[in-house]
Amino acid sequence: MTRISYVNGAYEPHPYAVVHIEDRGYQFSDGIYEYIAFYNHTLVDADLHFKRLERSLRELQIALPMSIRSMGIVIRELIERNGRADGGLYIQITRGVAKRDHAFPKHTTPSLVMTVCQAKLPKEKEVREGVKVITQPDIRWGRRDIKSVSLLANILAKQKASEKHAREAWLVDGDIISEGSASNSYIVTKAGELVTHPANEFILGGITRDVVLRLARKNGIKVSERAFSVAEAKKAAEAFLTSTSANVLPVVEIDGIKVGDGKVGVITRQLNTLYTAHIFKQTGKQL
Ligand code: PDD
Repeated sequence: MTRISYVNGAYEPHPYAVVHIEDRGYQFSDGIYEYIAFYNHTLVDADLHFKRLERSLRELQIALPMSIRSMGIVIRELIERNGRADGGLYIQITRGVAKRDHAFPKHTTPSLVMTVCQAKLPKEKEVREGVKVITQPDIRWGRRDIKSVSLLANILAKQKASEKHAREAWLVDGDIISEGSASNSYIVTKAGELVTHPANEFILGGITRDVVLRLARKNGIKVSERAFSVAEAKKAAEAFLTSTSANVLPVVEIDGIKVGDGKVGVITRQLNTLYTAHIFKQTGKQL
């Protein structure tokens, strides 16, 4: 089946789906995105993703190119045209095409691009045995809460991780772990407390993070949204990361140092099960 992408009102075969060279997303990274998983044609936590998308746009004063309701209709059509029951939906909205000038253009229509890809799930072995992460300096800007397409610092960190055969780079600000290059970071202390960085301007507040923290609290796990250091993480009982594509993924090594006994932790395992059940409840898909 031909891969179809949506570009500014048209459904195009993927190789021909293009935007103008003076799109401000291309020129300035002047735009935002969302990545949403879907199973059995159903988006996971759609409302939360659209809420974050609207917030990102508001923060950058970019207008919503169409109503969320209309976007839902386009998304359904796009998923159907791609003949995929399960996959990932990428949405990108930029300020639009305009003569290159830093200040906002006066009359520009925002650009809307949507693509659908194969579901990016972690490997079974990664979920069973956990993954390794390395730490890297967090050199990003001061508004990481906006899901901006400007990901240069993130990709440089991820590239370092990839070169070191690590699954993710955990970004370090001072001595505090803010989050991963494309995921949120967590530890479980020896006292059984789940710790993750507060959702402020220093991290992207993940949708998976929101859901996992809610599930943890509901199931009697003590949650503390506070900063934790690299040293504390290396002494933790458990660690894990979350994202739309990784779900709840155990971390068993940080910079070559084993977390706890180097095995997947009990609370991590429990949260993975709870999150998988959350996806099943919405979509009927058993991961
Ligand atoms: N990444 N932090 C960063 C910097 C991220 O890029 C992401 C998501 C997350 C987790 O957010 P969520 O749980 O809403 O996926 C945290 C996506 C998947 C991406 O860039 O493709």
